[in-house]
Amino acid sequence: QREDNDRFARLIAAQEAAAEHFINNLRRHPPAVDYLKQRGLTGAIARDYRLGFAPDTWDDLIQAISGRFNEEELQAAGLTSRKEGGRPFDRFRGRIMFPIRDQRGRTVGFGGRLLSPGEPKYLNTPETPVFHKGQQLYGLYEARKATPRLEELLVVEGYMDVIALAQFGLRNAVATLGTATTRDHLERLFRVVSRVVFCFDGDAAGGKAAWRALEQALPTVRDGREVRFLFLPQGEDPDTLIRREGPEGIRSRIEAAQPLSDALLEGLRERHDVESREGRAALGVEAARLLTTMPEGLLRSQIIGDIARLSGVSSERLEQQMGAPASSGA
Ligand code: UTP
Ligand code: MN
Ligand code: MN
Ligand code: MN
Ligand code: MN
Repeated sequence: QREDNDRFARLIAAQEAAAEHFINNLRRHPPAVDYLKQRGLTGAIARDYRLGFAPDTWDDLIQAISGRFNEEELQAAGLTSRKEGGRPFDRFRGRIMFPIRDQRGRTVGFGGRLLSPGEPKYLNTPETPVFHKGQQLYGLYEARKATPRLEELLVVEGYMDVIALAQFGLRNAVATLGTATTRDHLERLFRVVSRVVFCFDGDAAGGKAAWRALEQALPTVRDGREVRFLFLPQGEDPDTLIRREGPEGIRSRIEAAQPLSDALLEGLRERHDVESREGRAALGVEAARLLTTMPEGLLRSQIIGDIARLSGVSSERLEQQMGAPASSGA
């Protein structure tokens, strides 16, 4: 146990040392600063989020911190990579570095964005003993620090979205780390606030991510909790939109965001042909599958009533379908 704690502390210390080094690099690499400026970021927001830079060389970080951390530690911390039998090299090269902080503010990993066009555009720290990508939410620590009594959290797709919103005064946005929203993410968010607003990119991927998030959210919407969806215009993400419309534009869109129940009904209507009896039956079957996951309560009863009307059956028949095994037909 003691050894585990020491190990954990060493891996965190390596992340912190790397973060410091990446920040110092910014001063020595004007093109990286120019990139941030060109994306409209201020120095103040870059400092708040501790943005840094990893130059496009093989061992810049290794040279800088190998006096304090050995090869094995850097590898375990996900800061270096190696080909089989080869020498270790810096994992992050030619990238703007976004430190990812845990609930206590400790840097546990990084996202890195390529400065020049290339693939992959973003690279994250791999799974390590201190970094679990599917659990972390980028910006949650910063949001809680900025606003002690948060009421609402906004879930966006990207690091740059979180930071752009914060720069314009919306300091309550978080992002998953390039992964789909999970129920675990939602439970984490609901430990902090009672209202969660999803705001994905206005593209096909964003639309899919929203439906997926809705499915994950259904089991978590107990009475007193609220989930809403904000659909952005085609081709926009929160970063581009706030620069175009300003914070007031986004604020009014957030206020008008669609409640989960509306998004559910609208999504079902889009996914099925309500003009045919067969389509309405299929809609009822899918709705029943989704509603089964939802906690019982008045909201669920109302949705059952709406879907019963929409699919042309009674609420009782729909509830019977909800109890039926997933494989059985309508
Ligand atoms: P986007 O492609 O929407 O990027 O991916 P973005 O955040 O708007 O980035 P900019 O504005 O081009 O800088 C959304 C998120 O998906 C993850 C990242 O977390 C990114 O912020 N992603 C994207 C990856 O993990 N890898 C990629 O190659 C691309
Ligand atoms: Mn893990
Ligand atoms: Mn996108
Ligand atoms: Mn973007
Ligand atoms: Mn985007």
